[in-house]
Amino acid sequence: MAHLLRLNDLSVEEIHSLLDRAEQINAMSDEGWLEPNHTLVANLFYEPSTRTRFSFETAERRLGFQVLNFSSKTSSAQKGESLYDTVRTMESLGAKAVVIRHQQEAYYEQLRTINIPILNAGDGTGNHPTQALLDLLTLREAFTHLKGRTVAIIGDLRYSRVANADAEVLQRFGCRVLLSGPKEWSNSALPGTYVTVDQAVEEADAVIMLRIQHERHQHTMKMSKEQYHARYGLTQDRALRMKPDSIIMHPGPINRGVEMDDALVECSRSRYFKQIRNGVSARMAALEWTINSTATSRHAERVPEM
Ligand code: CP
Repeated sequence: MAHLLRLNDLSVEEIHSLLDRAEQINAMSDEGWLEPNHTLVANLFYEPSTRTRFSFETAERRLGFQVLNFSSKTSSAQKGESLYDTVRTMESLGAKAVVIRHQQEAYYEQLRTINIPILNAGDGTGNHPTQALLDLLTLREAFTHLKGRTVAIIGDLRYSRVANADAEVLQRFGCRVLLSGPKEWSNSALPGTYVTVDQAVEEADAVIMLRIQHERHQHTMKMSKEQYHARYGLTQDRALRMKPDSIIMHPGPINRGVEMDDALVECSRSRYFKQIRNGVSARMAALEWTINSTATSRHAERVPEM
C-alpha cells in the first residue's frame, strides 16, 4: 500500500521521480486533461483550506477522477462519527484513495488497517508532505540542483507543519537550512541552524516565510502585527539585502504586511503564485504514484506463484 504521510517515508530517489513527473506535467499544456474515468477519490478536510483542497481537486479532475468532497461541518462527523468510520465509509463507497487534512497530529496512525492509499493534506502541527513536494519543485525550477543551497525558514517554527516537512527534506537534499523567528516559537526538533532574521535573509538562496498559526497558539501574540513585521517579517528593507538571484516563498495564506511586505508578494523574486500552480502538478504526481503503486502491488498479489 503506497500512502503519502510524510515525505521522509520516501527515498530521495522516489522524491526525485515524483518531482520529475510533476515537471513533465508542468510542461504539458493546461488542455492536457485525461478523459473522465471511474476512479473515485475522496477529499476529507476537517480543517479549513483553500490551496491544498482546491489544488488536490484540480489535480484529481485533470487525471479524470470522480471527486467526493467532504466537509466536516455538513457530514456525520457532526453526529460524532469517527475519522476511522468516515474513511471506512469512503472505502466502502469505492474510493480508490483518500486525501485527509485533520487537526490531530499523526491522525493516520488510527487508519493503519485502511486498504486504500492515504494522502496527508496536513496533520495538525505534524507534517504537510505535498506542500514540501511543491516547495521542492519550486526550488528545483529556480536552481536546478539543491545541494549546497541555503534555504531560510522564518517565522512560526513551533506550530508550522510546513517547517517540519520542509526542513527535514531540504536537509536530506543537501541544503543548508537556516531557521529564524521569535524565540518563543522556536522548535528544537527541527534540523537547521538558528540565526537572526537579518542573517537568514542575507545568506539564503531561498527565503520561506511562514504564516503565523494563530489558531494553534495557546495565548494571543504579545506583539502587534506591526512589531512582528519589523522584527521578524520580510520588510522591503530586508528584501533589498537579499542575494541577487535569491527567491521568496510562502506556503500561504499570507498575512500581507505581517510576515511579508504587501509589495513583495508579487515582486520578481516572489514565487508565491508559482508555488500554488506547482501544487497541482505535485499533487497529480502524488495521486498517480499512490494509486498506481497500490494497484500494481494488488495485481502482483493476485498473480499465482509459478
Ligand atoms: N499551504 C496551505 O496548506 O494552504 P491552505 O491551508 O489554504 O491549504
